[in-house]
Amino acid sequence: MRTVLVTGGAGFIGSCFVRKLAGSGLYRIINLDLLTYAGNLDNLKSVEKHPNYHFVKGDIGDRLLLDRLFAEYEIDSVVNFAAESHVDRSIEDPASFIRTNVMGTQALLDTAIKNWKLCTDKSSRAYRPGVKFLQVSTDEVYGALGPTGLFTEESPPAPNSPYSASKAAADLLARAYAHTYGIPLNITRCSNNYGPYQFPEKLIPLMINNSLHNTPLPVYGDGLQIRDWLHVEDHCNAIAEVLERGRVGEIYNIGGNCERANLDIVKTILRILDKPESLISHVKDRPGHDRRYAIDNTKITTELEWRPAYTFDAGLRDTVEWYLDNTAWLERITSGEYMDYYGKTYG
Ligand code: NAD
Ligand code: DAU
Repeated sequence: MRTVLVTGGAGFIGSCFVRKLAGSGLYRIINLDLLTYAGNLDNLKSVEKHPNYHFVKGDIGDRLLLDRLFAEYEIDSVVNFAAESHVDRSIEDPASFIRTNVMGTQALLDTAIKNWKLCTDKSSRAYRPGVKFLQVSTDEVYGALGPTGLFTEESPPAPNSPYSASKAAADLLARAYAHTYGIPLNITRCSNNYGPYQFPEKLIPLMINNSLHNTPLPVYGDGLQIRDWLHVEDHCNAIAEVLERGRVGEIYNIGGNCERANLDIVKTILRILDKPESLISHVKDRPGHDRRYAIDNTKITTELEWRPAYTFDAGLRDTVEWYLDNTAWLERITSGEYMDYYGKTYG
């Protein structure tokens, strides 16, 4: 049985990936998560008693802890989701993004090299067979597009926010480690995700939550910025394919050819919930706001034959329903109750 270290597995996408791997019965999963405001063990209730699932609270930048985990569990693969992930927060506090997204990733890479190398000779490129480091990245590393064109894997990095700069820096480090030390690497770059368990600071859950409470829906600027949307389960299926079958050293873009303007999404959510458009409030734009993202997914769809299973209309409807059915999950977050619990349990 392959042992996978999933970092950030208590977050939105990482928890979906952990639930997926646990459901397959093919992996032993070690979930390392710092439980920041975005990490929520409620997302993992369905797997917490699974015999092949182990949760460890800790920081990906903690090298002593990483060494202990690699030795104790004989880790075969790392899937690195752990990150500060919200662009608006990165504008307020860039340093925490550099600490986790860049320095944390470097600590993980160093530990993987140290523990996976068959030979202590620094120049040796021999690694234990079957090991892999998968860096979960984002389309935001490519910067912004004009009204036409798509991001391909060959598009140059041109990040525009402290968040995307920190993710691009981590990608470049990982690439350099693959080139210099030969570590078996894949990088995935996905577009915007939506679905159950997304923290209500991001566009879709924030708009659902505000609609439910009849409070204004803050649309940045004209709301005509475009994102390319993918259901979180489709993203996790793609990552699982790359983990198993991705060619070592390759980058894979992940996206579902689903461009939507923010304002259209907000109006659709209001329609589904039967709420008035008068709740929409145009507010000051995000500084440095990227106008448009769009992914060319040719490589992953041809090489790995991955396809998204959800259409956006059905996926968004399901997601709204999930939030309606899980108001207790939402309230525990918005009330801060789960952070109080962590304070008591983990100190
Ligand atoms: P999230 O903010 O919901 O979750 C991040 C998780 O990482 C949380 O559980 C948090 O506790 C944990 N974490 C933060 N700092 C840590 C540290 N130092 N050590 C250990 N754990 C730490 O994020 P998400 O939306 O699930 O995104 C996951 C990954 O996917 C990120 O790397 C992000 O850049 C990438 N990504 C996200 C999207 C998206 O639309 N959300 C799209 C493409 C790529
Ligand atoms: O493209 C992938 C990226 O998508 C990921 O790497 C990031 O981790 C993830 O947060 C997401 O980044 P965005 O900045 O695109 O997501 P966000 O949900 O914050 O915003 C989506 C769009 O909606 C963006 O154009 C800003 C706008 N927006 C967002 C919020 C929170 C609003 O108009 N109002 C809001 O209140």
